[in-house]
Amino acid sequence: MTLKKSPLWYPYSQHKTMELPIKISHAKNCHLYLENGKSLIDGISSWWCAIHGYQHPKLNQAITRQLHQMSHVMMGGLTHEPAQKLAQKLVDITPNGLNHVFFSDSGSVGMEVAMKLALQYHKNKGDSHKTKFIALKKSYHGDTCGVISIGDPQDGMHAQFSSIFPKQFFVSSPQSGFIPDHKLLNQEIDEVATLIKKNHDHIAAFVVEPIMQGAGGFNLYSGEYLNQVSKLCKDHNILFIFDEVATGFGRTGKLFAANHTQITPDIMVLGKALTGGMIGHAATLATSQVFDAFYTDSDDDAFMHGPTFMGNPLACSVALKSIEIFEEENYLDKIALIHTQLTEELGQINSKKIKEIRTLGGLGVIEVHDPKTLESIQKFAVDHGVWLRPFGNVVYTTPPYIIKSQDLTKITQTLTQFFKE
Ligand SMILES: Cc1ncc(COP(=O)(O)O)c(C=O)c1O
Repeated sequence: MTLKKSPLWYPYSQHKTMELPIKISHAKNCHLYLENGKSLIDGISSWWCAIHGYQHPKLNQAITRQLHQMSHVMMGGLTHEPAQKLAQKLVDITPNGLNHVFFSDSGSVGMEVAMKLALQYHKNKGDSHKTKFIALKKSYHGDTCGVISIGDPQDGMHAQFSSIFPKQFFVSSPQSGFIPDHKLLNQEIDEVATLIKKNHDHIAAFVVEPIMQGAGGFNLYSGEYLNQVSKLCKDHNILFIFDEVATGFGRTGKLFAANHTQITPDIMVLGKALTGGMIGHAATLATSQVFDAFYTDSDDDAFMHGPTFMGNPLACSVALKSIEIFEEENYLDKIALIHTQLTEELGQINSKKIKEIRTLGGLGVIEVHDPKTLESIQKFAVDHGVWLRPFGNVVYTTPPYIIKSQDLTKITQTLTQFFKE
């Protein structure tokens, strides 16, 4: 049975050929429960956002308590404590100097805000010819029209739009690794330097998913690459934007991927795990230097953006609780244990079909030579009680950080068994 012309239109799906999705009746801890009573261990935390699993009692309580106060009010002309407190908390925990927070409702919109901020920053400062971005090949920054232009123009999922939206500059996806091969790293930095030296007059910002390029294939690279690119950007009046929608809140083993570097980006975007996966929300943070370019005597210099649901009180309250749990229950230690276990257990898988196995923080990735190898893995995993969703030539696990060791082993054993068979 395929989706056919169902009223509900599904993401990234050809309805004519795609099989019916699995219907979930409820979810608890790390388990998704099907209507037939069967359960699946969620190996990918609902696209990496459900870091506390499902129905964490403290998160449920936080959102319910807030519901009884107010579920929503607009932020134009009004304000409220949950948004004010969350903005302050994010300023406190992100790299030094990110002092201002603009809320929006999803990672894509948070990235649109980042792009718009960068363009208007230069415009307000009188550099209105700085209108282009540099991005990495293999990058993914969301699905909306602005950010499509900074996603990989050839292999990315929006390649068919690359002639429609503004043309941006792209440099090679860094292949020098998380612990860098310095010869390769130097070549990569040379490529960036050449592009920047030639075009800096037109470039507003350099945008990256720091340390881990997610949806483009889980490529890992080093803090050193970012340190060096940051210097080039600073020397040429180019803003550096970190898209931490996927990496934020521990996925790479540190609270933020930026913590693997010695720099503070000019703009940083958080989403997904910001609310512990409870409700959509994003935060775009900016340094005082960026903010001050909007802080003038002219209304024309103000930032003209305001999503209806920005700073939603339910989202902000649950985000504050999520961060509190993360800190009080030492999630970075839990992530370190997940990393050790993933490294040990995935490291034992041996197959000629595998190109590389890589792990970092709460991430385990198996990259194969031929994407066809993975065609049946989703069904195989479901039959073995695990939820995984491969794409292209990678299958990965990004489990909730509360996962029990035996459940994580069930995920790695399922992968082991798949490659054995
Ligand atoms: C790095 C990155 N940026 C932006 C987004 C878009 O976030 P959203 O799906 O919440 O719009 C994603 C989503 O996967 C992402 O991985």
